[in-house]
Amino acid sequence: MIAADPVSMTQKADLIDLAMLSDRSIEHLLEDAAWLARLQAEKEPLPTLRDGTTVATLFFEPSTRTRNAFLQAAHLLGAQTLAVEAESASIRKGESLEDTIAALEALGVDVIVLRHPQAGAAWRAAQVCVQARVINAGDGTNAHPTQALIDLFALRQRFGEIRGLKVLVLGDLLHSRVARSDLWALHRQGAICLASGPATLLGPLPPWVQQVTDPDPVLPEVDAVLLLRLQRERMEEELIPSLREYRARFGMTSERAALLREEAVILHPAPVNRGVEIDDAVMRDPRTLVFRQMQIGVFVRMAALRWVMQGGIAC
Ligand code: CP
Repeated sequence: MIAADPVSMTQKADLIDLAMLSDRSIEHLLEDAAWLARLQAEKEPLPTLRDGTTVATLFFEPSTRTRNAFLQAAHLLGAQTLAVEAESASIRKGESLEDTIAALEALGVDVIVLRHPQAGAAWRAAQVCVQARVINAGDGTNAHPTQALIDLFALRQRFGEIRGLKVLVLGDLLHSRVARSDLWALHRQGAICLASGPATLLGPLPPWVQQVTDPDPVLPEVDAVLLLRLQRERMEEELIPSLREYRARFGMTSERAALLREEAVILHPAPVNRGVEIDDAVMRDPRTLVFRQMQIGVFVRMAALRWVMQGGIAC
């Protein structure tokens, strides 16, 4: 049973990477998000964080979903928010990430939600803080733990459990922190993981991921396809011949979607490149959960905020 009382200050916990969490913690986060979603749907009062809790977002890369979902989550939990504009922060004057984080802690911020282009940035930030908790909202190509929780939530909501599901991750795995976090979490929860995409964009895959050169033959067998955005901003050279060829070989066109079973689902963390990774018509397909994933995002972020403020219970 999860108490609806204001949470108390306990030990410091950070949410950096799902690989650092126990199965019990992941289960707790998913159950808490589901409980919060139910309360919201039934218009029941939501729990609050302790009085005066301040949540700061510090994003060094663009974001629509993650940043605003965290802000919305903090508001729903009764917290104060501070949306720090990285563009106008003193980092532009040469201040280090560590000093920026220390400054936010000195201002009394309780939770820092950080997105940064460098892998390991959230971990570095967490080492600086004595009291403030750090949540990784995406660090370079490394990890995006709350997106992976959203995707687990969406699959559990549709299928009941993850164990035994066959999930194809399709697209630019090389540059994708979502792929890294999702593949780890799916494997840990007992899913069968497949990956496909241009050879130049697959990168090294863990041994438990089955590489598929052509996605089409496996589409009728899979329960879910997780599409990934082509991250052209992270490509130092052209790694695909053309967007047209990418769509023809790996895009979720109507023809490819027709190969999927009626019960299968299509996920994409978004933002999407329409007409490249996914066609407009497939975005409207009832099996496509892209906007559902965004709705789930608020409850997952509420659970993440509660979890770090509760000292990472069930760690
Ligand atoms: N999925 C995701 O991280 O989206 P944003 O970049 O908009 O936050």
